[in-house]
Amino acid sequence: MKKKITLIGAGNIGGTLAHLLLIKKLGDIVLIDVMQGMPQGKALDLSQSSAVEGFSNTIQGSNDFSKMKNSDVVIITAGLPRKPGMSRDDLLEINGKIIKKIGLDIKKYCPKAFVICITNPLDAMVYVLQKYSKLPSSKCVGMAGILDSSRMKFFLSEALKVSINDIQTFVLGGHGDDMVPMVNHTTVGGIRLLDFIKNKKIPMSKINKILDRTRMGGGEIVKLLQRGSAFYAPASSAIQIAEAYLLDQKKLLPCAAYLNGQYGLKKMYMGVPVIIGSNGVEEIIEVKLDANEKKMLRTSVKSVQGLVKAVDKILN
Ligand code: APR
Repeated sequence: MKKKITLIGAGNIGGTLAHLLLIKKLGDIVLIDVMQGMPQGKALDLSQSSAVEGFSNTIQGSNDFSKMKNSDVVIITAGLPRKPGMSRDDLLEINGKIIKKIGLDIKKYCPKAFVICITNPLDAMVYVLQKYSKLPSSKCVGMAGILDSSRMKFFLSEALKVSINDIQTFVLGGHGDDMVPMVNHTTVGGIRLLDFIKNKKIPMSKINKILDRTRMGGGEIVKLLQRGSAFYAPASSAIQIAEAYLLDQKKLLPCAAYLNGQYGLKKMYMGVPVIIGSNGVEEIIEVKLDANEKKMLRTSVKSVQGLVKAVDKILN
């Protein structure tokens, strides 16, 4: 049986998600947006690429949220993106209200779905989504860590002049400017990045610049685009989660997951390495942190907790 995948939000990321899902033949797509005509137009345009791309999955555009009924997977990008000079946190109130309503719709129409949230500020939005959809926490995740890690991998591969495919790394914590890139757990073809630094293949000053650029990676693109925020890499990153779930790949990916004691934290979402398979989040992996990483993580956690508190106040 073909899987049903609903995309809520048919803007830059939503449209790119639809395109990637169809090309990868992962399921039939429903593209929902509040904007009249736009999801229908994108769906028609994408349908007309099927002859060339050779996919037989269907795509339907709609303004009717009940069309998400019985979806296997839902990916959410509904809401506003950042404008130049805005932080992700500036979107809290407006996107919080949108996500609450979508959470209630998911509860009504597809309580068995696996749901991926992309809307920012990510960690607070996925918290709102789980709270109002009442999905089991294993079936509700946020996409950010894959994107942040893939930005870091790209900058490292450029600096080291090494294939990006040889770089393994991940980012821990909230999807904000105080995310924690894990230098101690970064390897290049199995060799620790720390050894590259020790052997003077790359100076620590350059690594620090890469870490800063990773933290500010989204903002750099917002500034360049002038209108809207990054969408190709965010869409690819979310597809990796959906694919791991649909194909039961048991992939180890950094995602915003609900913590219940892991990393000493409870009842909150934050970016951590998780295994994604057909049961959703099948395991949360804990890694040992050094004193500096613990300190950085505490700062990131505080920001996320502040946002969650603020959004709860707005929505209650
Ligand atoms: N229900 C459904 N769709 C909505 C709603 C809603 N209540 N409110 C707004 N939208 C739609 C908009 O009409 C728009 O088409 O969400 C879409 C968002 O698309 P873009 O503005 O192109 O933004 P995009 O780049 O796709 O980013 C979406 O993901 O990465 C985050 O920060 C980003 O929060 C932003 C989200």
